[in-house]
Amino acid sequence: MWPNLSDSLLALFLIGAVSGTPLVPRYANLTTSGVICNGTFSRISAQTWVDNMNPGWNLGNTLDGIPDEGDWGNPPVVPQTFDDVKKAGFKGVRLPVTWAYHFDTEAPEYTVNPGWLQRVSDVVDMVLESDMYVLVNVHHDSWTWADVTQANANYTQIEEKFYRLWYQIGTKLACKSSLLAYEPINEPPGTTAAHAAELRKLEDLFLQAIADAGGFNPHRVVTLNGPQENSDLTSQYFVSPTNISNPWAIQYHYYSPYPFIFSAWGSTIWGSDVDKAALEADIANIRNNFTDVPLIIGEWAASPVATETAARWRYFDFFVRTASKYNTTTVLWDNGADFLDRVNHVWRDQTAVDLYMAALAGEANALPDSTTDSNAISQYTSADLFVRVGQSVTSQTISYILPGNTTLTSVIRPNGTSLARGADYSVAGDKVTFSASLLRAYFIPSASPGSIANLTLKFSTGADLTLNLVLWDTPVLSSTSSSAAAANGSSISILVQWKGIDKLATVKAVTTNGTYLVDDFTKYYGPLQNARTTYNSQWNWDTNNLIITAAAVSAAQAVGEDVIFTFEFYPRVPGNAVNYTLTV
Ligand SMILES: *[C@@H]1O[C@H](CO)[C@@H](O)[C@H](O)[C@H]1NC(C)=O
Ligand SMILES: *[C@@H]1O[C@H](CO)[C@@H](O)[C@H](O)[C@H]1NC(C)=O
Ligand SMILES: *[C@@H]1O[C@H](CO)[C@@H](O)[C@H](O)[C@H]1NC(C)=O
Ligand SMILES: *[C@@H]1O[C@H](CO)[C@@H](O)[C@H](O)[C@H]1NC(C)=O
Ligand SMILES: *[C@@H]1O[C@H](CO)[C@@H](O)[C@H](O)[C@H]1NC(C)=O
Ligand SMILES: *[C@@H]1O[C@H](CO)[C@@H](O)[C@H](O)[C@H]1NC(C)=O
Ligand SMILES: *[C@@H]1O[C@H](CO)[C@@H](O)[C@H](O)[C@H]1NC(C)=O
Ligand SMILES: *[C@@H]1O[C@H](CO)[C@@H](O)[C@H](O)[C@H]1NC(C)=O
Ligand SMILES: *[C@@H]1O[C@H](CO)[C@@H](O)[C@H](O)[C@H]1NC(C)=O
Ligand SMILES: *[C@@H]1O[C@H](CO)[C@@H](O)[C@H](O)[C@H]1NC(C)=O
Ligand SMILES: *[C@@H]1O[C@H](CO)[C@@H](O)[C@H](O)[C@H]1NC(C)=O
Ligand SMILES: *[C@@H]1O[C@H](CO)[C@@H](O)[C@H](O)[C@H]1NC(C)=O
Repeated sequence: MWPNLSDSLLALFLIGAVSGTPLVPRYANLTTSGVICNGTFSRISAQTWVDNMNPGWNLGNTLDGIPDEGDWGNPPVVPQTFDDVKKAGFKGVRLPVTWAYHFDTEAPEYTVNPGWLQRVSDVVDMVLESDMYVLVNVHHDSWTWADVTQANANYTQIEEKFYRLWYQIGTKLACKSSLLAYEPINEPPGTTAAHAAELRKLEDLFLQAIADAGGFNPHRVVTLNGPQENSDLTSQYFVSPTNISNPWAIQYHYYSPYPFIFSAWGSTIWGSDVDKAALEADIANIRNNFTDVPLIIGEWAASPVATETAARWRYFDFFVRTASKYNTTTVLWDNGADFLDRVNHVWRDQTAVDLYMAALAGEANALPDSTTDSNAISQYTSADLFVRVGQSVTSQTISYILPGNTTLTSVIRPNGTSLARGADYSVAGDKVTFSASLLRAYFIPSASPGSIANLTLKFSTGADLTLNLVLWDTPVLSSTSSSAAAANGSSISILVQWKGIDKLATVKAVTTNGTYLVDDFTKYYGPLQNARTTYNSQWNWDTNNLIITAAAVSAAQAVGEDVIFTFEFYPRVPGNAVNYTLTV
C-alpha cells in the first residue's frame, strides 16, 4: 500500500495509524466551524468537471508573477480576456497564483494579504461569470518556502504555512460554485520516495484545511498530483487517497520532447512515427497506471514564439488527439507572449487553435507536410512558400498530409476572394501546385523581403491552414565579431536586418579549434543539430537584435578559445546562416 516509503517514514505512518490518530494539525483553528454558505451547490463528479474543462487555457505569468500580477509583462486581468478565450472554444481556465509574496504576517498566523485574496476571488468570479470552469492553485510557492527538497527545509514549518494558506484560500472561496476546483501545489520539486511522502502529507493537510474552512469545499473537485506534476514520477509515486470526501482527479504537465518544445539543440522538426510513438507511450503509461481516475494535463504547449510552424501544427493535432484517446483533458499553457495577445484580442497562431478545436471535436485535420527525418540536412515545411530574393519566380508544389477522404476545397486570398482552380493552382492527390503567374502577382520585383501574404486553404474536414508566402534572403548583421571581455558579464545584442522570417531557427557554437561550446552530446545527433545550442540558455532575439546570452559569453571565456556562433534562420537550408566570432 505504501511501497516506496523509506523505513523511517513508514514507521511514522504506522505509529499514526496504530494509535488511530487522525491527521489533525495542532495549527488547525478548531475554534471556528467554517464558513456557512447561502445558496446551493450542484455537486459534480471529478470526471464531469474534467470533461467539461476540456479544452482549458492557462492565464500564465499573471497572478503567478513574482512578486505581483503585472510583473511578468502582462496587463492586469480584465473580464474581456475570458470572453476571448471562450470565443476561441476553450471551456475552462487554470489560474496559477503565487502567494509567497502576499503574506502580511509569518508564523503562526501566516495571514495572507486581504487585498490579494480579494483579487484572486475577483478573477475567479470573472471566469465564472463567463460560464467557464476554473482551477485555482498555489503556484511558484513550490520553488520558495514550500520546496521540500531544500537541504534545510523545515517540514513542520512548511506544513503549518501550507495548512494556513489553504485554510485562508478555502475560506475566501468557500461559497463559489462547483465550477471552481483546487490544485494544492504546482510542480512541487521532488525526486525521491521521501519527497513524495512529504508531498503526500501536504496534500492531506490541503484537504484538511479546505474541509476546516467549510462552505462547499468538502464537495469541491480537487486535482491531486505527484512530484513535479511529472507523468512518470506521478505514475511511480502517486498513491490514491483513501480518506477523501472531495471528488478528485490527477493532474500532470506535459512538455515533451524537451528539445522540440524548448528549442534546444537545433531540434526544429517533429512528427516522425518514432516521435509520435514516444508521445503516445507517455500518455498511455499514466493512463494505464490510473485506469479509473479522471486525468487532466494542466499545462502543455508548443509555442509559436520559437517552434517551426508546420512541426508545431502537426504536434498540436497529434497531441490533442492522443490525449483524447486516453480520456485526458488538456489545458494549454499561455504565458501572454505565446498564444493570446490579450491587449489586441487576437490569437498569434489562430491555425493552432483551430486545429486544437477540430481535433477535440473528432474532425480529421489536413496538415502541412514537413521534414521529419532526423538525418536531414535541410528542413522542408509546407506552412511557408519561400522565394529567395533574386530567384526567378516559377510554379511551386506544396504537399499536405490529407487524412481519409479529406480534400482541398478552396484557397482564399487575404481579401477574401478565392483563387481560380486551374489558373492559379492545381491539385494532384496531396500536392497543390501554385502557378507561376499567381506567384508573380505576389512576388513582384519591387517587393521587400518578408511575409508577402497569407493564403488560406480550406478542406472538406477540419481546420483551415494558412500558407505564408515569404520572400527571403540571408539576414545581415551590423558586425561580425566582438570581444567577450567587452561584454563585461552581460549579454551581447547584435543589430540584425531581418530578411524573411524574423526569428532565429537555432545557433551553432564551436570554438576555432572545432570544440563544441556546450552540450558535446549533440555530436550524436543529426546534421541539423550538431553543436547547436539552446534558446534562452545561449541565444535569443528581439525585434532588432540577435542576442548571445551572458551565460554563453561566460562559457566562451571558460573555454578560453575564440568561439564562432553561426546564427541560422528559416528556411533551414544550407547557407541561410551568418557567422559571428566572439574573441576571448
Ligand atoms: C478522514 O477525513 C475526515 C474528513 O476530512 C477527517 O475528519 C478525519 O480526521 C480523517 N481521518 C484520518 C485518519 O485522517
Ligand atoms: C449569507 O447571507 C447573510 C444575510 O444576507 C449574510 O449576512 C452572510 O454574510 C451571507 N453569508 C455568506 C457566507 O455569504
Ligand atoms: C481562529 O479563530 C478565531 C475566532 O474566529 C480568530 O479570532 C483567530 O484569528 C483564528 N486564528 C487563526 C490562526 O486563524
Ligand atoms: C521548524 O519550524 C517549527 C514551526 O515553525 C519551529 O517550531 C521549529 O523551531 C523549526 N525548526 C528549526 C530547526 O528551525
Ligand atoms: C506505470 O508507470 C510506471 C512508471 O512510469 C511504469 O513503469 C509502468 O509500466 C506503468 N504501469 C502500467 C500498468 O502501465
Ligand atoms: C472516458 O470518458 C467518458 C466520457 O467522457 C466516460 O464516460 C468514460 O468512463 C471514461 N473512461 C475512462 C476509462 O476513464
Ligand atoms: C471515404 O468515403 C467513403 C465514401 O463516402 C467512405 O465509405 C469511407 O469510409 C471514407 N473513408 C474515410 C477514412 O473516411
Ligand atoms: C482581391 O485581390 C485580387 C488579387 O490581388 C484582386 O484581383 C481582386 O480584385 C481583389 N478583390 C477584391 C474584391 O478586393
Ligand atoms: C502571415 O502570417 C504570419 C504568421 O501568423 C505573420 O507573421 C505574417 O505577418 C502574415 N503576413 C502578412 C502579410 O500578414
Ligand atoms: C562592468 O560591470 C561592472 C559590474 O556590473 C560595472 O560596475 C562596471 O561599470 C562595468 N564596466 C563597464 C566598462 O561597463
Ligand atoms: C581545443 O581547445 C580546447 C580549449 O583550449 C582544448 O581543451 C581542446 O583539447 C582543443 N581541441 C583540439 C581538437 O585541439
Ligand atoms: C562559419 O563557421 C563554421 C564553423 O562553425 C565554418 O565551417 C563555416 O565555413 C563558416 N562560414 C562562413 C561563411 O565563414
